[in-house]
Amino acid sequence: MTQSDALRRYLSSTEPAGVDAGAAAFYASLDVVSRVSPAVAASIAQELRDQRSHLKLIASENFSSLAVQLAQGNLFTDKYAEGYAGHRFYAGCDNVDAIESEASELGRELFGADHVYVQPHSGADANLVAFLAILATTVESPALERLGEKNPAKIGHADWEVLRREFLGQRLLGMDYYSGGHLTHGYRHNVSARLFEAHSYTVDPETKLLDFDQIRARALEVRPRILLAGYSAYPRKINFARMRELADEIGATFMVDMAHFAGLVAGKVFTGDHDPVKHAHVVTTTTHKTLRGPRGGMILSTPEYASAIDKGCPMVLGGPLPHAMAAKAVALREALDPGFRDYAHAVVDNAQALADALQWRGARVLTGGTDNHIVLVDVAESYGLTGRQAESALRSCGLTLNRNSLPFDANGPWYTSGLRLGTPAVTTLGMGTDEVTEIADVITSVLSQTKPAADDKGGTSKAKFNLSESVVDGARKRVADLLAKHPLYPEIDLDIVDPA
Ligand SMILES: Cc1ncc(COP(=O)(O)O)c(C=O)c1O
Repeated sequence: MTQSDALRRYLSSTEPAGVDAGAAAFYASLDVVSRVSPAVAASIAQELRDQRSHLKLIASENFSSLAVQLAQGNLFTDKYAEGYAGHRFYAGCDNVDAIESEASELGRELFGADHVYVQPHSGADANLVAFLAILATTVESPALERLGEKNPAKIGHADWEVLRREFLGQRLLGMDYYSGGHLTHGYRHNVSARLFEAHSYTVDPETKLLDFDQIRARALEVRPRILLAGYSAYPRKINFARMRELADEIGATFMVDMAHFAGLVAGKVFTGDHDPVKHAHVVTTTTHKTLRGPRGGMILSTPEYASAIDKGCPMVLGGPLPHAMAAKAVALREALDPGFRDYAHAVVDNAQALADALQWRGARVLTGGTDNHIVLVDVAESYGLTGRQAESALRSCGLTLNRNSLPFDANGPWYTSGLRLGTPAVTTLGMGTDEVTEIADVITSVLSQTKPAADDKGGTSKAKFNLSESVVDGARKRVADLLAKHPLYPEIDLDIVDPA
């Protein structure tokens, strides 16, 4: 592996007036990294090559801007800043304070939230902090008040044990993992199912839609401390106003995990009854999916939960990641640009065009379409394939997407019967409804010519498949044509990174 010399090559082949700062920064960063680790620099360049040569239809991914990426690649990674802006346990945090305050201020403006906490390192962390902050506010604080104390560290062991049991005995009601909910919403293998007595609601077996009456019946039966809405694989809007009324009826805290659709809230696709920030007590999100920021999490809340949420460190987190908060601030500034609203609406227009085009060509799309960025396809019923076979067949043709269990999936969570497709990334590349219709045509043409292969015991494999080379070549060419017209980071020339 040789050291990268991309910046020098770029500058010597470009007129000074034509130098692009983003491209120069990318080349410079590869050169600097490669002086220490040529292997890491080579992987970064290879990832760009791979992402440029495959169509990304992963619903939970996007392409962040170079500004977002560069805001994370600097000396802020070195700084410890336990606490929160203006209230730190370390010296020298003025600049981290400025960044954290900027990010939360922009978050408040973008979402119209009372309080925004930008420290969670991921969506899973954000949910854990939110759960514990809700329990601290609704269970721990009243219990401490009864004991005439504010600080849990100051009560005796016996009182603490009583409080801890009360804390751990609470009920959570969220969407079933196997129907599209997230594993942090009470899935048995996750800490959420150990922290709470976890219960779930599911979709209607026929329509695959959430049925508010069923959710209400479950809520009245379970009487949860937290009523949780939000999903990883559900293609429809949710009426958060009605969910809030239900939470009020049973005295629960209403929490929404908008990790997947935060960009659609920011971009004013989900408004009124469908805007979670208007109706929930606590809203968690990731920053890297439809919101198009860096990997990370955020929590929005009403004032009553704010001080408990700000104690994310020490409750769950250690020191915040100032470089990641800087990148969140950049992404939130980008999402406040009016162009982001056009982007968010285009994401949904594209998803609807994709769902329509797939159905026209014979694919079975769950719920008959979508209101958001997600399209779920039943490949078992449509093509006699498992999700695993469909995912691998399409990847071999240059399309990256993920298999997904469908509600009540007979093939289980590993092989699955479904595909989850999403339009955030291709929309960022500038593709519109014509391009997604072409993508639907490639997908249906590949899947209808993919056949399950035999397994070693003479049965039918759930993983292996047969697909002719000519179909793969034809699909790859169509994918390459689409990507050539919509390159990722067009200012970066990979021939400069790796000259022939
Ligand atoms: C609804 C939902 N919540 C939380 C998460 C977790 O986010 P992270 O992977 O950043 O921990 C995800 C990720 O897929 C998600 O879909």
